[in-house]
Amino acid sequence: MKQPFFYDVTLRDGNQALKKPWNTSEKEIIFNKLLELGVQGIEVGFSGASDMDFEACRYLADIAPKNVVISGLARAVKGDIDKVAHAIKHAPKPRIHTFIAMNPLGLEYVLKKPLTEVKKIAIDAVSYAKSVLPTYGEVQFSVEHFGDCRENLDEVIEAVQDIVKAGANVINLPNTVERFRPMEFIEMVKKVRLALPEDIIIAVHCHNDLGMASATTVESYFAGATQLECSLNGLGERAGNTNMYEVAVALYNSGVDVPLNMQNIYETSLLVSEMANVPIWEKAPIIGYDALAHRSGIHQDGVVKTKHLEKGAYRAFNPELIGRGDAEKLGFTSQSGKTAIYELINSTQYQISMQEAVYLAPFAKQKAENVGELSLKQLLKLYFDEICDVKGPFKLSDFTKIGADKFNLSFNRNNEEFDVIVKGSGPLDACINALKKSGFPLELEHYEQHAIEDLANEKEKSKAMSVLHFNDNGNIIIARAINTSTAQANVQAVFNGLNLMFKS
Ligand code: KIV
Ligand code: ZN
Repeated sequence: MKQPFFYDVTLRDGNQALKKPWNTSEKEIIFNKLLELGVQGIEVGFSGASDMDFEACRYLADIAPKNVVISGLARAVKGDIDKVAHAIKHAPKPRIHTFIAMNPLGLEYVLKKPLTEVKKIAIDAVSYAKSVLPTYGEVQFSVEHFGDCRENLDEVIEAVQDIVKAGANVINLPNTVERFRPMEFIEMVKKVRLALPEDIIIAVHCHNDLGMASATTVESYFAGATQLECSLNGLGERAGNTNMYEVAVALYNSGVDVPLNMQNIYETSLLVSEMANVPIWEKAPIIGYDALAHRSGIHQDGVVKTKHLEKGAYRAFNPELIGRGDAEKLGFTSQSGKTAIYELINSTQYQISMQEAVYLAPFAKQKAENVGELSLKQLLKLYFDEICDVKGPFKLSDFTKIGADKFNLSFNRNNEEFDVIVKGSGPLDACINALKKSGFPLELEHYEQHAIEDLANEKEKSKAMSVLHFNDNGNIIIARAINTSTAQANVQAVFNGLNLMFKS
C-alpha cells in the first residue's frame, strides 16, 4: 500500500470560506504550521481570486522548501492558469491545479455545455498548464462535483482518460457537495482507479455537508486514492472540508504509516481556530475541549482500568499522539461514581481510599444532581465535610493534655455526656483508652500521618492528616482527619471512625 500523500487545502478552500480571508503574513503563519506538521502538498491559494491572494501565492511559493508540492488553483481558462504559473514559478515543486465540473446538473444548468465540449476545455487547460510549467512541474485536474457523476460516470471516466493523455499527473475526485452514501462514492473512486495507469495519482477532496467527509476520505485511501485533500480544523466551504486530523488518526489506528508529525496537531488546531476566528466546537472529534472527557461511571471505570494501555476502553487514541497528553479528564456528575472520586481526589495532595470514595459517592451525586458537574474545589469541599468530619452519634467536645501522660476527653453520644480522665503513651493511645473506659472499645490496626500543605493559609503552611484503620468485627474501617495539631487530627480521626462504625 502506498503511503498517503497529505495535500492541504486550508489556504485555498479554507481561506475562501473565511469571513475575512487571510493576507500574506497570516497565510505565512499557517503555511509554517503546515510545514511543521509535515504535509506533502500545499494548495497555497487561488491567485485569480484577488491581487492579495496572488501575492500570497507568489510569496509562499518563493519561500517553499524543496520537498513540498506547492499548488495553485486555476479555472480551466488560460488567464487563471497563467496567473498560477507566474505566482508559483519559484516553487521547487510547482503544480497547477485546474478544474471543471462534469456532473449532469452542472453541465445542464451551470456550464450549459455538453460533456464533449467540457472535456475539450479540460484537455486544453491541462495541456496548456503543462506547457507553461518547467519539466519538473505537475498538473492536477479535478472533476468538480465528481460525487454527482453517478449517472454519467462511464463518460466521465473516458474524459478523464483523455485528460491524463493530455498530461495530467494527478486526477482529483471531489465530493464537492456531500449528498449520498460514502460507499457509493468509494465504488466510483475504485472504478476510476482501475481505468487509469498506475503512475497516475488519484486524489479525493471531500466536503463535509453531511458530516461524513473523513470517513469517505479514509475509505477512499483503501480504495486506491493516495492523495488525501484535507484542511486544518476542517475549514472549507459550507460545513467544511475533510478534517486532516481525523483522517490522520484513523489511518494511524488502522496501521497505516502516516507521514505527519501528529504530535503538532493540537497546537496547530488552536492556532488555526484563533486565526480563522472560528471556535472549535467543544465536542469536535480529536480537538474539541471536551472530546476526551469521561463522565459516566461505567466509562470512567473502564478508562482508569486501561489507562496504562495504548488502546484504552472508551479512548479512541492516545492523546499523546496529537500533543494533548493531559487532555483526558474525568468529570464528576450525577452519572459518575466512585472511580472518578478516587481518581480526582488522589490527583491532589489529599488522599482517599476506594472504600471512602464509595462512601462519598452518594453525597457527591446528590450535590451534582443540583449543580451539574462538580469542580475539583466542590468535590474537595465534600471530602472535607463528609470524610474528614463524619457526622454521626459521637461528638467530640474536648481533648486536653492535663499531665505528663494524662489526658481529659469529653464527648457526647446521642445527648449523653462523657468526661473521662485517662493515662496514655500519647494522645491517640489516651483517646482510645478513654473510649474503652466509656464502653466503646476500638481495635486500631493501622496508623499513618501525612503533612498537608495549607495553600490558603500564609502562616500555618502545613497541616497534619491522620489516617486510622480500625478492625470492626473483621471489617476494616478507614477514618481520617486534618488539623493543624497532630494530636487533634488523631482524635478527630478516631471520632470519624466511631461515627462510621456506629452510623445507623
Ligand atoms: O470542492 C471542489 O470541488 C473544489 C475543487 C476546486 C477541487 O474545491
Ligand atoms: Zn472544495
